[in-house]
Amino acid sequence: MSVVNNSRISDIELAPQGHLAIEWARRHSPLVDGFLRERLNDGALAGRRVAVVVHLEAKTAFLATVLADAGAEVVVAGSNPHSTRDEIAAALVDRGIEVHSTRGSGYPAWEKDLLAIADTGPEFIIDDGAELTIRMANHRPDLFAELQGVTEQTTTGVSRLVELANRGRLPCPALAANDAACKHLFDNKYGTGQSTIQAVLNLTNMLMAGKDVGILGYGWVGRGIAAHVRALGGTAWVVEVDPVKGLEAFMDGHRVGDLDTVLPVADFVITATGGRRALSRPDFAKMKGGVILANAGHHDLEIDVEALADEAVDFRVVREGIDEYLLGGDRSVLVLANGALVNIAGGLGHPIEIMDLSFAVQGVGCHELARGAVAEGVQVIDGSIDAEIARAKLAFHSISLEDRHAHQEDTIDDLLGPEG
Ligand SMILES: NC(=O)c1ccc[n+]([C@@H]2O[C@H](COP(=O)([O-])OP(=O)(O)OC[C@H]3O[C@@H](n4cnc5c(N)ncnc54)[C@H](O)[C@@H]3O)[C@@H](O)[C@H]2O)c1
Repeated sequence: MSVVNNSRISDIELAPQGHLAIEWARRHSPLVDGFLRERLNDGALAGRRVAVVVHLEAKTAFLATVLADAGAEVVVAGSNPHSTRDEIAAALVDRGIEVHSTRGSGYPAWEKDLLAIADTGPEFIIDDGAELTIRMANHRPDLFAELQGVTEQTTTGVSRLVELANRGRLPCPALAANDAACKHLFDNKYGTGQSTIQAVLNLTNMLMAGKDVGILGYGWVGRGIAAHVRALGGTAWVVEVDPVKGLEAFMDGHRVGDLDTVLPVADFVITATGGRRALSRPDFAKMKGGVILANAGHHDLEIDVEALADEAVDFRVVREGIDEYLLGGDRSVLVLANGALVNIAGGLGHPIEIMDLSFAVQGVGCHELARGAVAEGVQVIDGSIDAEIARAKLAFHSISLEDRHAHQEDTIDDLLGPEG
């Protein structure tokens, strides 16, 4: 059967539009297009089956084409049913890469797509949220045993892989790509920070200056969101459960409080905890009328939209990507992008330059796994690879660094004197 027949996409006729977007991503991805390509030249991935299950948009598609150019047999699905771009899926199929994904497919069809990817028997998975790995463990144990490595994109996915390993159910080495400095320092903070605020403002066509913004979670993502709120003249109100992170937010100059303090004043509330139901049934009554909720965490369930719908007396779509839940009287709560990751499902995703870094980490991670260079269990990528990637990015910007000098060394010899 041809790749077109094997694939499940919306419409192959959309391919030309997708090719343009992928080419635009390539132009701003010097690491994936240069550094990673060079590394894959050794043939380690030639003929190897690689599944890419990441939000299916142009940057992901470009990574998939680079892996395919290196000789890998690549199959692709989206890591969330709301985030797939149909034109990108079409362009990949047009290039001969098998894809199982359509935008807004709903969860049952999306899971079926993931199992179709599992049935191709991947040797390596480039995963996001461990969405494919977990499903293979659960539904395809025979094929799962064949797996030789996983490299994982997100904070939530790494926690899931660690749990899987602790239960003795991870049969192969896994790389926590998220934990590489070149990933979370830039992707989670600058990439998610900028793209989340961009998506919120684009979807609503509203102004940030003068707004009060509740931010749940002050991890890498929350820090980035708060910084971008402030940069645009808004006030970030951070809600944390970790006292050290709460103190850090306070020292960074943000307002900090619990939900009872923050929800009544917030114009926007953005979740970034990585857990389920950070905003749950009792919280909706505490919110200011007309508040706008958005989620930046991996779970679509971080805002309990089902409970909100249950509490509501009426519902309407007020604008594309904005649902309004009427709670009685004149109070209502609005939700962006169905509570899915707002920057990806309701926006263009991370800036290309950020995904260039993240995918350099993921691509090199996959190469390391194929070389058999990763020990069993969930591992962090070697620090020397982080340094190489950062150096390559700096070199692209024509920035060179100083060398450490021998005369800098500070030893206790000087203090101890000749007796030592
Ligand atoms: N939208 C995107 O493009 C994108 C990008 C990167 C990461 N993510 C996802 O964002 C989420 C957060 O990632 P991160 O790297 O910031 O994780 P993190 O672990 O660094 O931060 C999460 C923070 O949330 C806090 N927290 C937990 N429960 C809370 C609660 N009920 N109320 C308030 N605070 C709470 C924790 O104490 C922690 O400080 C994860 O799901 C991750 O996978 C999304």
